[in-house]
Amino acid sequence: MSELNTTIQELIKYRRSVFPKDYIDKPIAKDILVELLKCAVQAPTHKLTQPWRFTVFTGEGLIKLADALKKQYKKSVSKDDYSKKKGESIQKKILQSGAVIAICLNESGKIPKWEELAAVASAVQNMALAASAQDIGSYWSSSKLIHELDSFLGLSKNESCIGLFYMGYHKEKRSLGKRSPLSEKVTWVE
Ligand SMILES: Cc1cc2nc3c(=O)[nH]c(=O)nc-3n(C[C@H](O)[C@H](O)[C@H](O)COP(=O)(O)O)c2cc1C
Repeated sequence: MSELNTTIQELIKYRRSVFPKDYIDKPIAKDILVELLKCAVQAPTHKLTQPWRFTVFTGEGLIKLADALKKQYKKSVSKDDYSKKKGESIQKKILQSGAVIAICLNESGKIPKWEELAAVASAVQNMALAASAQDIGSYWSSSKLIHELDSFLGLSKNESCIGLFYMGYHKEKRSLGKRSPLSEKVTWVE
């Protein structure tokens, strides 16, 4: 096996979701973010629809996103269910991040929606792997609040936010994820 293959396989196996509480206080430079996004958009797409749209929040942008999410949380629950602590924790997670990217889907209508979702997910995985290679941890959050961000993100009718991609430098140890044995997931026909 070539050295490149080994490196790629290890990179894939050891990529883990890393959460904001484990990020260190270090911003992610714009040129690195651009490089990660260039990896994202190399994902395959049927009919080359390239259905991904990304909004990148850094610096002051993170404060705006944190405020918007906190506001949406307050709006989404009744007065009785509202928890100040939860609102603050939503805000804190954003502010602990080096960058947060809103992952959006732009439906072209040319192919089934599932194919476009699959393409966006592939792009996100490319980005997560490229980030992991640079010691930048990340995770895809699909919190309910992402469905309340259309106007904040300026999305059009055929667009929707399908996640927030939190990112940050970290000092977590490398680890393999827990997975079911292949025998439960793979059928061989030989
Ligand atoms: C589409 C998608 C949505 C996810 N949403 C959440 C989420 O809302 N909250 C969360 O803690 N993790 C979320 N995750 C991350 C998973 O929890 C994580 O990938 C899983 O536990 C496996 O860990 P690993 O990424 O380290 O292999 C999401 C992952 C994907 C692919």
